[in-house]
Amino acid sequence: MTVEEIAGTETQADVRAREVEEQMTDDERFSLVISLIGAVPMIGVPRDERIPADVTNMSAGYTRGVPRLGIPAIQSSDASMGVTNPGYRPDDEGATAFPASILVGASFNPKLARDGGAAIGREARSRGFNVQLAGGVNLARDARNGRTYEYYSEDPWLTAILGAEAVNGIQSEGVTSTLKHYTLNCNETNRHWLDAVIDPDAHRESDLLAFQIAIERSQPGAIMSSYNKINGDYASGNDHLLNDVLKGAWGYKGYVMSDWGAVPEWDYALKGLDQESGIQIDVTQWGAEAFTDRLRAAYAEGKLPKERLSDMVRRILRSLFAVGADSWGPAPEVDLAKHNELALETARQGIVLLQNEGALPLATDQPLKVAVIGGHAQEGVASGTGSGAVLPVGGYASLIKIGGPSRMGASRNLYLLPSSPLAELMKLLPDAQIEFDPGQAPAEAVLLAKRSDVVIAFGIRSEGESFDLADLSLPWGQDEVIDAVATANPNTIVVLQTGNGTSMPWRDKVKAIVQAWFPGQAGGQAIAEVLAGTVNPCGRLPITFPADLSQTPRPELPGMGTPWGTATTIRYDEGAEIGYRWFAKTGAKPLYAFGHGLAYTSFEYGELEVEGGETVTATFTVTNTGDRDGADVPQLYLTAAPGEERMRLLGFERVELQPGQSKQVSLTADPRLLARFDGDAGQWHISGGTHALAVGKAADDLVLVGEAELEERLFGS
Ligand code: BGC
Repeated sequence: MTVEEIAGTETQADVRAREVEEQMTDDERFSLVISLIGAVPMIGVPRDERIPADVTNMSAGYTRGVPRLGIPAIQSSDASMGVTNPGYRPDDEGATAFPASILVGASFNPKLARDGGAAIGREARSRGFNVQLAGGVNLARDARNGRTYEYYSEDPWLTAILGAEAVNGIQSEGVTSTLKHYTLNCNETNRHWLDAVIDPDAHRESDLLAFQIAIERSQPGAIMSSYNKINGDYASGNDHLLNDVLKGAWGYKGYVMSDWGAVPEWDYALKGLDQESGIQIDVTQWGAEAFTDRLRAAYAEGKLPKERLSDMVRRILRSLFAVGADSWGPAPEVDLAKHNELALETARQGIVLLQNEGALPLATDQPLKVAVIGGHAQEGVASGTGSGAVLPVGGYASLIKIGGPSRMGASRNLYLLPSSPLAELMKLLPDAQIEFDPGQAPAEAVLLAKRSDVVIAFGIRSEGESFDLADLSLPWGQDEVIDAVATANPNTIVVLQTGNGTSMPWRDKVKAIVQAWFPGQAGGQAIAEVLAGTVNPCGRLPITFPADLSQTPRPELPGMGTPWGTATTIRYDEGAEIGYRWFAKTGAKPLYAFGHGLAYTSFEYGELEVEGGETVTATFTVTNTGDRDGADVPQLYLTAAPGEERMRLLGFERVELQPGQSKQVSLTADPRLLARFDGDAGQWHISGGTHALAVGKAADDLVLVGEAELEERLFGS
């Protein structure tokens, strides 16, 4: 559909929104364009008296409804990994804590994203939330970003496909979902005072393309703007990105809500913002609410046109109506056991086996002496922190208060979710003698390592919202402990629970490395199954793991170490060449490349055929050449366009194969992935001529190569 067609197509929801909005009073209209956050004692936000006393399920946002017109109250809750309350409120009864989005990214499995979304949507609805603040589709641009765990990948296509499916799942349950944070909220350091500077065309080819494709594929009811500025203008009042690009070029019909504490001015309404979220936070952040008295005054003075106010309201209404949030029946039954099973299956599919010199899977038929060291493996698995972190039903396995007072402090705490990898391993290896050492001191851990047949050392890190990591090391001396035990016993396996890559200085001393991310409430079981071999690990890296920060576009992170509130500028001079694209351009060798992941079986590719024309279609076969069932993720890349080297992931498919089985895979590229954005024309441009392609196991492991002739053309917007 063209943008004109989309803009010209009125759905039933649009028609109803128009008809209902016409009947509203101005007071009712104004009540809809704000939301109030529930009480958050931890940051000193009391319960707001504008929230009716009978509302008990408060979370991130509450907007009064208009019962006489059938408009329900709008109640929003975080986030992408489960239903949660910001601020870890004491009355939170918990929800299924799914694995981190970055782990879903590593599964390369859109169905898991959709099923997870549907489960989260159902849990949201059963608790009375009709807006889920999910769909984190910022691209992972920096290995220090505290919120990488909330995002899917560094690649626009992979991110868009998974983000869209998560939204489709949530919205299929009658709950509106956001995609967030629009755009370039790629670091936490000074995020409210951060200016993200980028070439506008490169922006279209990267972060914005992820949003554009995800929007097309899922029609999210809302887009949440980010905290930062983009090229000098705050995201929530960025006329160009909201009005020209999102609502103009892309014909987006839903509403734009701000992030909490991102609206300094009422005139952001003129620049494309439709709803001010958590208005009390704007008082803390900017000294005043923007869309209450000030917006009303602007309206009275004729500075806010009536048509614009109506448009803001209609957008909000149509999104509620489009998913049926106004016509909910009884609350759905939630099968928590089934959701736990889904959390488990997701963790199984997203754990990545980075390295394995025959150490895994563990021998289950011998009375092995196994040393499990560190990582609080006797208690649970690490979780990311901040607004997206989910309190599991039944509570944390442990909360280790390493942070200080304030919201920031809560983000620094270490939250451990059940299940315990140690306990799960004991169940799977009943004949083994398993001993645990907390990994507090190298000398002590070595004592156990020396008398064991195999060492499983855990490395964990607390990562989350409102802070970035200073470097790629593991905290609390864990790198030293791992180094010491690997020196004492070369038969060492390392299991990492982090949201970003780490430097792994001990890498050459260990036999196997497993990247388990923040694997959610069933993560301990999934880790144990991978180690014991009852699950064949098939996840792939959705982000490049750099060997060190000097290989990345920003060896020094601007603003790092300055007090919160320091004006900071990040220049994204790498443009669209993020992650694996940057490594292809610079020729640097990462620690582990995008797309990399081993399994307990092997795969071969053959018979590549490529078709050109308007886009590229590649057809090839994948064969499981090993001796056990497994899944592979062949990846199609553009490696060069006429006149330039240019690396782009064009497609992927997760293929399940039995030993000896082959499957033909056919991947057709979205033409925008083959194009450059031509800002002057406002269109995508494919250069005519020969394009080089490859099918690979990872961005640095290209197995089959081919070429396609493409026609020169300008298209889309
Ligand atoms: C986060 C958002 C979140 C919101 C509401 C903000 O701090 O950036 O992702 O949805 O809080 O809790």
